[in-house]
Amino acid sequence: MNASASAPGKIILFGEHAVVYGSTALAVPVTQVHVDVEVLDSPRAGIFIHAPGIELHAELNTLPADHPIGSVILKMIQRFDISPLPNLEVNISSTIPVASGLGSGAAVSVALIRALSSFFFHPLTNEQVNDLVFEIEKLHHGTPSGIDNTVITYAKPVYFIKGQPIETFKVGNSFTVVIGDTGIPAPTKESVGDVRLLWLKDKTKFEEIFDEIGQISLIARRSIESGKPELLGDLMNHNHSLLQDMTVSSLELDKLVQAARDEGAMGAKLSGGGRGGNMIALVDQAKAESVASALISAGAKHTIITEIS
Ligand code: MEV
Repeated sequence: MNASASAPGKIILFGEHAVVYGSTALAVPVTQVHVDVEVLDSPRAGIFIHAPGIELHAELNTLPADHPIGSVILKMIQRFDISPLPNLEVNISSTIPVASGLGSGAAVSVALIRALSSFFFHPLTNEQVNDLVFEIEKLHHGTPSGIDNTVITYAKPVYFIKGQPIETFKVGNSFTVVIGDTGIPAPTKESVGDVRLLWLKDKTKFEEIFDEIGQISLIARRSIESGKPELLGDLMNHNHSLLQDMTVSSLELDKLVQAARDEGAMGAKLSGGGRGGNMIALVDQAKAESVASALISAGAKHTIITEIS
């Protein structure tokens, strides 16, 4: 017996951080990168996990109880009431850079849960998968909004408000985004915690910023739906400056954002937790390659050109 499942990466187009405080945000899946999980019966006793990308080759019992992969497997076995423990090989491969803001952790959880649910013939709805992954995200990331698990579970563009039913949106005219990775791990838990401390110190200032970002997300959604993605450039630039005010940009991110703009991108901003990880730039399709090269010259470790449609 074997079963497999995949999950895409994601980028946040608008609204990161503010979304933790109930503001709106927009995120889209990035299918060029993905996690693939395969679950197989094993001839040997135990549950063996192989994730070469993070150099993990271990039997489940040898991992700490809160291990992000081991704990998901155990949780699912308990939920499906499988006893005694089955003998399994779990193979996990991923092309999503870890801690880059592309949602690698949430994508591993989504693909793993779906592969196990199919292996054990316990179908789960998207809503159930999303709820399970959100629980796991909370264990490892402090106070996440839930946007990462939602966009990756549904694999559709989402207009997200914390705690509200999922809303997807239509893309009137497709548009091109270049993603540039600083290669510096994004310390999302830390940056979310720091924004919380700053908000506690000056709620009026920070809530004004969150509201402004919420307005940007709303206008961005209208621009995308009405087929005018060119309007997103200025909105990205504005959103980036508000993220700078929130102290979640960095010299490296600012340098990549500037390099993209200098090369003719219509707008650019950091994407995700910030202080490392990725930035995104809105470009004319014809300029995508030259903007990607400019990002590499400015220090990006990888770039991805993605078409949002
Ligand atoms: C991380 O991808 C996005 C943040 O807004 C955190 C969250 O929403 O949980 C920074």
